[in-house]
Amino acid sequence: MSVTELFDHAKTTKRVDSITIRRPDDFHVHLRDGAMLEAVLPFTSSQFARGVIMPNLVPPVTSVAMAAAYRERILSARPEGSDFQPLMTCYLTDTTAPAEIEKGFRDGVWVAAKLYPAGATTNAHYGVTDIPARAPVFERMEKIGMPVLIHGESTDPAVDIFDREAAFMEQSLLPLLKRHAGLKVVIEHVTTAETADIVRAHAARAAGTITPHHLVINRTSIFQGGLRPHLYCLPVAKREHHRLALRKAATSGLPCFFIGTDTAPHRRTAKEAECCSAGIFGGATALQTYVQVFDEEGALDRFEAFASVNGARFYGLDLNCGTIVLERRESPVLAAVAVEDNEVVVFQGGQTLPWSVGAVTR
Ligand code: DOR
Ligand code: ZN
Repeated sequence: MSVTELFDHAKTTKRVDSITIRRPDDFHVHLRDGAMLEAVLPFTSSQFARGVIMPNLVPPVTSVAMAAAYRERILSARPEGSDFQPLMTCYLTDTTAPAEIEKGFRDGVWVAAKLYPAGATTNAHYGVTDIPARAPVFERMEKIGMPVLIHGESTDPAVDIFDREAAFMEQSLLPLLKRHAGLKVVIEHVTTAETADIVRAHAARAAGTITPHHLVINRTSIFQGGLRPHLYCLPVAKREHHRLALRKAATSGLPCFFIGTDTAPHRRTAKEAECCSAGIFGGATALQTYVQVFDEEGALDRFEAFASVNGARFYGLDLNCGTIVLERRESPVLAAVAVEDNEVVVFQGGQTLPWSVGAVTR
């Protein structure tokens, strides 16, 4: 055998063709409501045992009663036989009362509160206009050990859209971490190398979720051959070196990084529009995409921690029982999912992906 053949042989004999991991959770998912909920839930519930459900409905989920009712609607929309568990969140506004926050947490209705800077993204206009002024809420959360999940982007229109995460981290997040030294914080959908560093530096009480799409696309992808609305989300994808840093963070094995797909379905007509809605529907291809990234990075042995352990530990939840198999087996991905007389375009839809989801045991 030539040296090259030997090398290839070594590579192929070491190749892992399937992994079986503890059932994973998605710590950031938009399931919407009504017909959209019915259409997209089966994708999330077939891949994940639990999901942290984002509250940016219209109107937003701001009370214990609203969260309990939304949870029931999700449970009733589950496909026959599904054991998917929605973990609810409370949408913080300028008028959220600390007592309401604590009640929902103590009663087991919600696991966290979501902080949207007002106007930062889809249905964020009821969000918080003055973060320091919400100190009483954060103090209460600190006291009861309830995490705040942060959409970390500046809403200052003068800040360049590609710099909004960096501006928020400097101007709002770092001061917040300083003011509330015991507050548990999840920086959602990390998109920059610097934010990943901030997560690492505060890992005792901070964590970061990483989406499948931010591991695969960079900002140039959005303009590849023309403008690609289905790759537009917030925070918007950044430069290539940030994507590489995110791949490093996700596959690092560090307990402060875990899955949050930010699967955010919008109808095709809302994406292919004069003003395109932000959001990528990654729910149908999430695990296939993540496992492909871990494979490409030579880190399959670290996938279970990222997918099924780190997030649960951060939230103080039991680990799931049961397993899911991920196989190196090519399968075509459906292009779109029908919703009423419309459809939602699937991230990487219409392509053949090298990894597939196999059997699930409970
Ligand atoms: O791209 C996004 N879509 N980012 C968000 O923060 C919200 C989400 C949505 O709800 O559509
Ligand atoms: Zn989101």
